[in-house]
Amino acid sequence: MPENTDEKTTERTYTRADSKVEVKGFEARHYDMMLNTVTLGAYPFFIRKVVREMQIQTGNSILVFGSGTGRNLALMDQHLSGEGRIIGLDIGEEMLRQARRRFDGHPYISIENRRIDEDLPYQGEFDKVFISFVLHGFIQEDRVVIIKNAFKALRPGGEFIILDYNEFELASSPWLIRSIFKMECPLATDFAGRDLQGNLEEHGFDEFRVLTHFRGYIRLLAAKKTA
Ligand SMILES: C[S@@+](CC[C@H](N)C(=O)[O-])C[C@H]1O[C@@H](n2cnc3c(N)ncnc32)[C@H](O)[C@@H]1O
Repeated sequence: MPENTDEKTTERTYTRADSKVEVKGFEARHYDMMLNTVTLGAYPFFIRKVVREMQIQTGNSILVFGSGTGRNLALMDQHLSGEGRIIGLDIGEEMLRQARRRFDGHPYISIENRRIDEDLPYQGEFDKVFISFVLHGFIQEDRVVIIKNAFKALRPGGEFIILDYNEFELASSPWLIRSIFKMECPLATDFAGRDLQGNLEEHGFDEFRVLTHFRGYIRLLAAKKTA
């Protein structure tokens, strides 16, 4: 289990040019298969468990930020039992193509081409806003826009659910973790050094649920909009 740090920032200053969150080309075309491979086949079991941890109720409305190929949305749908609504937002051409093909003709799942780091039109409509392995890839200023978009989109009692890297000190982490982060988006290092729960509190969220995975390096952090 990694140690939490109170460090709010790392020494380096990051810019949008450091981001690798827009998945393109070969990686986008084979995204699901690559995730299965790099996790040695663990990913399908892991993500199923995470979707159970979302505590989805029949009929829920769910907004997904950075919906990718739509794989996670298909798992969420199994908990809706044929009622509810899921909207996935993405900007990657290939990701949009795969997700739209997956849900072509689906009665209540739609995929929209929208940036999540700009003001979104949704207001008080959703029970859950979900974002997985996307938030770390933005500079802090844009992460704040995303947090505000989630707060605005949720109805009172709704939850913003973030699946991403936990907070930890990279420099003192095992070799394997440091190697993974060398290949990761540089902004992931900045993200792991920040107090995400504190950032969410500053923007109105409370009643947190925390569930950790992969020896604590991955965290599902659910935050409620109670007001
Ligand atoms: C690392 S992938 C994660 C995909 C998916 N959430 C998952 O867990 O499988 C990041 C996703 O975020 C999308 N993305 C990147 N920047 C975005 C933006 N500004 N607005 C919406 N989606 C974005 C990418 O196209 C890609 O599908």
